[in-house]
Amino acid sequence: MASDSPVAIQEDDPTKATTALLSFNTDSSSSKSPRKLTTTIVFISLVLLSCIALSAAVAFAFLFFSAPKTTIHSSSFYSRPLKKLNHPVVLLISSDGFRFGYQYKTSLPNINRLIANGTEAELGLIPVFPTLTFPNHYSIVTGLYPPYHGIINNHFVDPHTGESFTMKSHEPKWWLGEPLWETPLWETVVNHGLKAATYFWPGSEVNKGSWTCPKGYCRNYNESVPFEERVEIVLEYFDLPSDEIPVFITLYFEDPDHQGHQVGPDDPEITEAVKRIDGLIGRLIEGLEKRGVFQDVSVILLGDHGMVGTCDKKLFFLDDLAPWIEIPSDWVQSYTPLLAIRPKGVDPKDVVAKMNAGLESGKVENGKHLRVYLKEDLPSRLHYAASDRIPPIIGLLEEGFKVEQKRTEKKECGGAHGYDNDFFSMRTIFIAHGPQFARGRKIPSFENVQIYNLVTTILNIKGAPNNGSLSFPSSVLLASP
Ligand SMILES: *[C@@H]1O[C@H](CO)[C@@H](O)[C@H](O)[C@H]1NC(C)=O
Ligand SMILES: *[C@@H]1O[C@H](CO)[C@@H](O)[C@H](O)[C@H]1NC(C)=O
Ligand SMILES: *[C@@H]1O[C@H](CO)[C@@H](O)[C@H](O)[C@H]1NC(C)=O
Ligand SMILES: [Zn+2]
Repeated sequence: MASDSPVAIQEDDPTKATTALLSFNTDSSSSKSPRKLTTTIVFISLVLLSCIALSAAVAFAFLFFSAPKTTIHSSSFYSRPLKKLNHPVVLLISSDGFRFGYQYKTSLPNINRLIANGTEAELGLIPVFPTLTFPNHYSIVTGLYPPYHGIINNHFVDPHTGESFTMKSHEPKWWLGEPLWETPLWETVVNHGLKAATYFWPGSEVNKGSWTCPKGYCRNYNESVPFEERVEIVLEYFDLPSDEIPVFITLYFEDPDHQGHQVGPDDPEITEAVKRIDGLIGRLIEGLEKRGVFQDVSVILLGDHGMVGTCDKKLFFLDDLAPWIEIPSDWVQSYTPLLAIRPKGVDPKDVVAKMNAGLESGKVENGKHLRVYLKEDLPSRLHYAASDRIPPIIGLLEEGFKVEQKRTEKKECGGAHGYDNDFFSMRTIFIAHGPQFARGRKIPSFENVQIYNLVTTILNIKGAPNNGSLSFPSSVLLASP
């Protein structure tokens, strides 16, 4: 091939030389023949195409292999090593009733620092049903749906003993989960020989299994303790020698739930309450930074549920059902937004049929905004049947509606939660910042029963059986390098 190289023949015409160079296997001297010319053009085209394809391949290969170094920082694939602490620490913060979307009401520089450099549920965290404070806080720390952890409402009656549970009931018998193997996070942690600390959380004062609500690491609930003081006490744990710092710490604020009930979610008072929470988060970040541990601590900021506005025109009265069935008040365990009825001496099935006949008749004010079910007929996504503590009849209300026994003179507009967890207004926030959370990452919404496995995975301890999925943590957390 080299012996009859066409280059030698094409002396002075540069265009021809190029052509010849490309068509070195053809006889360039006969290129005037039309057939040969066509062949040459086709050949040149093919070679040109090959060159383009080759360049493209090289370009892609370059982009592909250089991408991790240039466009995405390679360290963002892996969790970041601890700088000061000698074990991971999770600080779980609940801001009660922090409805998803409140974070856009005003500028919240501190919460936005966590969001900007952390992982956020882009459309919020989904509470469990009923979207009430105690059932949700206990689902967050056990990973169990309410029938399995036992706290099925903020107050309820045990059908076997007739005893009442209230938010002040700290006897272990109310707080279920199989003893020794279904445990709230503080107990799981202690079972692994590690330290936990709680600055308020529903259930944290209950002595259960190896958890004894130890002095200095657990407090009796007292809503009068200023939020700032709670933050300072939590920060003091980080003054301890690294080995003694609790690996799991809870912190609880009653706001903005408190304001939400009084004025509804759209009042300027909410904006002020949310700003105040942001200030507390700022205080916390600053304290952690001062101690050199902000980048080491996994801070998870979340809420228990959202909030929706309620007003007088969205009321339903049980007494209006009298033409179909009388519902005496001593059958009713809770009215609103979770209507829960335990009828006495009557088949619950008949009660449901008669109530729904009234509701669907079109003759009862706001009747079409309430639907009652035998608990076993509720949509299964609500996971609200598998407990004797749940009364046999449950009503589902449309968003913002309320149930009362009878008409009164009372006029009232405010906010409520407790509705179907499918309502967007019931969603809350999930914002997580720490060595195992990617910076600036948005993740899809998820139910709060997933948090338990997330925390045990961060702490690298074996969790108790629960309703979260075992694959969830790896879909959210950065891998170990
Ligand atoms: C995010 O983290 C980087 C690296 O530590 C830091 O330089 C930056 O200031 C942080 N951004 C915010 C908003 O805190
Ligand atoms: C609750 O906290 C307030 C404020 O710190 C304090 O004055 C009060 O004594 C506490 N109540 C109890 C019962 O400890
Ligand atoms: C939830 O977890 C409990 C305890 O492990 C289990 O008994 C129950 O079947 C689970 N329920 C669902 C719906 O996964
Ligand atoms: Zn709440």
